[in-house]
Amino acid sequence: MGAAAATRDPVFIRVRDLRKQIGEQRILRGVTMEIARGSGVAIIGGSGAGKSVFLKLVMGLIPATSGSIVVDGTEITGLSERQMGPHRRKMGLLFQDGALFDSLTVEENVGFPLVEAGWKDREKVRAKVDETLAAVELSGHKHKLPSDLSGGMRKRAALARAIITDPQGVLYDEPTSGLDPVVADSIYHLIRRTQRMRGITSVVVTHDMKSLPVVADQVVYMREGVVYFAGSPADLLASRDPVVRQFVEGRSGETS
Ligand SMILES: Nc1ncnc2c1ncn2[C@@H]1O[C@H](COP(=O)(O)OP(=O)(O)OP(=O)(O)O)[C@@H](O)[C@H]1O
Ligand SMILES: [Mg+2]
Repeated sequence: MGAAAATRDPVFIRVRDLRKQIGEQRILRGVTMEIARGSGVAIIGGSGAGKSVFLKLVMGLIPATSGSIVVDGTEITGLSERQMGPHRRKMGLLFQDGALFDSLTVEENVGFPLVEAGWKDREKVRAKVDETLAAVELSGHKHKLPSDLSGGMRKRAALARAIITDPQGVLYDEPTSGLDPVVADSIYHLIRRTQRMRGITSVVVTHDMKSLPVVADQVVYMREGVVYFAGSPADLLASRDPVVRQFVEGRSGETS
């Protein structure tokens, strides 16, 4: 092992006292967490808890109000737009709504990040797109438009687009919302395989408790702008904290 590898930080994402305020609203109120290199982490929490905002901060798409986000040894808060480029290329983000370009084919959508990264050789782009589509089991659909795909296929195409640049980390924002349970399960396994086979650190925002044992080594429960609980999926299920229990069991606390 070379010196660089020997000193590589086993923590890939290190967040300390991260705060984000938009207008009067304090969305994140001091989030602290560590995400191990090559691991799978699930982020759970109620609607509006700040999960999507957190992913956008880690991706460097919006500025933090205060606090620290170190990714792969680089502090990203306070980087200029130009300095942010290398950081963003290390990361893939699967947006909550999938966000494929409607007028581009699957092939063009999935190849888009390569073209953006300056790949000029069309043959190389095509080969990489083919390889990535095969990995998500979409070979044979590359000439279709997003509107001609099923919901699950659209998610897989978006996933292919998020991983095509061989990022070190991928952030998935509710990758299975709107899918039937069987297709959702296959997406979770695809995420886990991607993480294990490519050594990618994966951060998955999910509302689906069934996904946790599949995708997550660690689960982080965000509540009221802070990390309320962090532990393994088994720790979460064994927790006796009434707030955690209520969330895990999906009870609203209402009576009708
Ligand atoms: N650009 C913005 N301007 C103003 N408020 C925003 C903005 N982005 C997010 N918010 C607010 O921040 C809070 C957290 O939003 P966020 O999208 O992170 O929630 P979430 O945890 O992802 O919820 P869900 O599970 O429903 O996706 C919400 O109250 C939202 O209205
Ligand atoms: Mg969200």
